[in-house]
Amino acid sequence: MTEQKPYGKLIGASLGPGDPDLITRRAWSALQSGARWLYPVKKAEESSYALSIVERGGIAVPADAVELVFPMTRDADILDKAWARAAEQTVALLGEGRDLIFLVEGDASTFATFGHLARVVRERIPTIQVETIPGVSSFAAAAAASGVTLAEEDETFAIIPANYGIEVIDHLLDEFDTLALLKVKPMVDEVVELLERRELLATSVFVEKVGAPDERIVDDVASLKGEKVNYLSLMLVQNPKRVRGELRRGCRKRKEAADASAPEA
Ligand SMILES: C[S@@+](CC[C@H](N)C(=O)[O-])C[C@H]1O[C@@H](n2cnc3c(N)ncnc32)[C@H](O)[C@@H]1O
Repeated sequence: MTEQKPYGKLIGASLGPGDPDLITRRAWSALQSGARWLYPVKKAEESSYALSIVERGGIAVPADAVELVFPMTRDADILDKAWARAAEQTVALLGEGRDLIFLVEGDASTFATFGHLARVVRERIPTIQVETIPGVSSFAAAAAASGVTLAEEDETFAIIPANYGIEVIDHLLDEFDTLALLKVKPMVDEVVELLERRELLATSVFVEKVGAPDERIVDDVASLKGEKVNYLSLMLVQNPKRVRGELRRGCRKRKEAADASAPEA
């Protein structure tokens, strides 16, 4: 009977949103550690954005790198089949005993395929070792590139996929000083109309493919109406008119509580 080799480790390497200079040192060395590369594509043999970040950074793609297909569809059947296939491929490769490094655009813990892949693989191999290498997210890089401060002092900040709809975004504008609207592509016109209505055009910015050679920053977001934008795009919206509730001063409260419970002299 042949003995099962110990499984390799599954590493999720965040590569940042596009500029190879934003790849962390940890991800950079993991890429060159001899681990086998896995990279996501939307269709078989299509280009991979995550892979292109590393290539622009100057590391040659190893000949044995493996693509995993994650189609962009809402069809549950197609998705289930694609996920099952990706998980099967990953489990089989881990069984060869070599570490696998899955290339992730942006940060691996933020709206990334890696979280789901790691979960599915863990269901099949409960003892599998998983390492997530954190990285620069698209909205952090977009804020830096456009000169936006996401939050200061006691301001509130939320990150949401824009496809929750306009009513939700409208409501959240009353709750948060800054919103990062990810996956904004199909919602651009409606979001612009909302921003017009709420007089927030001047404090909003659209950022596409941040860090990539074709990065685009649009301050005049109203000019985007009717335009077909790239999937890799987001909006940062600030609401300086937000009415804030009263803050509980945690430190003072804690001191009062401590004083109250101190034994009397
Ligand atoms: C599946 S999520 C991936 C998020 C990514 N893991 C991160 O940490 O930012 C895809 C969405 O993230 C945003 N995004 C990712 N990369 C981007 C980039 N380079 N420029 C602008 N937005 C980006 C877009 O809103 C896109 O629709």
